[in-house]
Amino acid sequence: MTRVLSCIQPTGDVHLGNYLGALRNWVSGQHEADVFHGIVDLHALTVTDTPGTLGDATVRMAAMLFAVGLDPDVATVFVQSHVPEHTQLGWVMECTVSFGELSRMTQFKDKSAKREGDFISAGLFTYPALQAADIVLYDAEEVPVGEDQRQHIEITRDIAIRFNSRFGDTFVVPKAVTPKAGARVMDLQDPTSKMSKSAGSDTGLVYLLEEPAAIMKKFKRAVTDSETEVRYDRAEKPGVSNLLDILAACSGEPAEVLACRYTQYGPLKSDAGEAVVEMLRPIQARYQELMTDRAELARLLHVGAERAGAVARATLARAYEHIGLLPR
Ligand code: TYM
Repeated sequence: MTRVLSCIQPTGDVHLGNYLGALRNWVSGQHEADVFHGIVDLHALTVTDTPGTLGDATVRMAAMLFAVGLDPDVATVFVQSHVPEHTQLGWVMECTVSFGELSRMTQFKDKSAKREGDFISAGLFTYPALQAADIVLYDAEEVPVGEDQRQHIEITRDIAIRFNSRFGDTFVVPKAVTPKAGARVMDLQDPTSKMSKSAGSDTGLVYLLEEPAAIMKKFKRAVTDSETEVRYDRAEKPGVSNLLDILAACSGEPAEVLACRYTQYGPLKSDAGEAVVEMLRPIQARYQELMTDRAELARLLHVGAERAGAVARATLARAYEHIGLLPR
């Protein structure tokens, strides 16, 4: 059975990009593969320094992962800080990646540029090493992510290959898996930038827990262009193409086929908005229900940590042994 792993940071509320680019694929893959999904609270430390916020954000994220459809009977959902092997192997990964490789990461360049004049942690720079540990600890063959994470999966491959050639065959070399539609959902107000929790304003972001009326309003105000023709062309018509992509991801029909059905922007905007509202309705209801029983969420995360820990311990022991560290 294929081993799959992917993770999400408990920072900000989950948005449509997270869902269409990643979470939806996690759910659709859970019955065919052996899946592990982490809420990576330690990664969030790279940009979070307010005391007492991460624990609560982690519980809400867990409720969201079950609400979108992860089934705790088949999917292992765990919290990164509950499995200490992540940081232990993270150090080994830091010693297997070079300063130059980390310097080329576009996400570091973007995030540090946005924080100019602010505190930029060393963790923000070494982040991909911890992410590599998250992945190789589980012998993951596939990592379902949005397009923005491809570079981090590529560097994980490079690190795993380097480690294997230094110390002998130890880690599975993973590959990124992205969906046909929804791999890069763009901001509705700025369709040349990806929809992101760290965007300056949230007028172009659609959250999974947002009210239907607010979602419709955001779609109706989505930026398009001064032409009138509906055509799928990401480079020339980013706004219209983003709406077509979102509608395609919701309906399962190709964006190019959908484009032929519209002669005006207005109906495309409202159809895309309605498709999103309908897709989110059952998720919102399940989320509210799950949040009424926090003890049950804690129990599920405990079970997840036990299952994840068993796999992670074995991999870390194998890595230490192959390096030749002195056993205690
Ligand atoms: P994070 O928390 O920023 O995002 C979670 C997932 O959502 C995807 N995503 C998008 N997909 C399409 N369009 C968008 N606009 C969009 N925005 C976000 C991301 O690609 C991601 O799949 N570094 C990771 C977390 C991580 C991880 C891992 C992922 C840590 N360890 C190991 C995979 C495997 C991150 O910050 O994702």
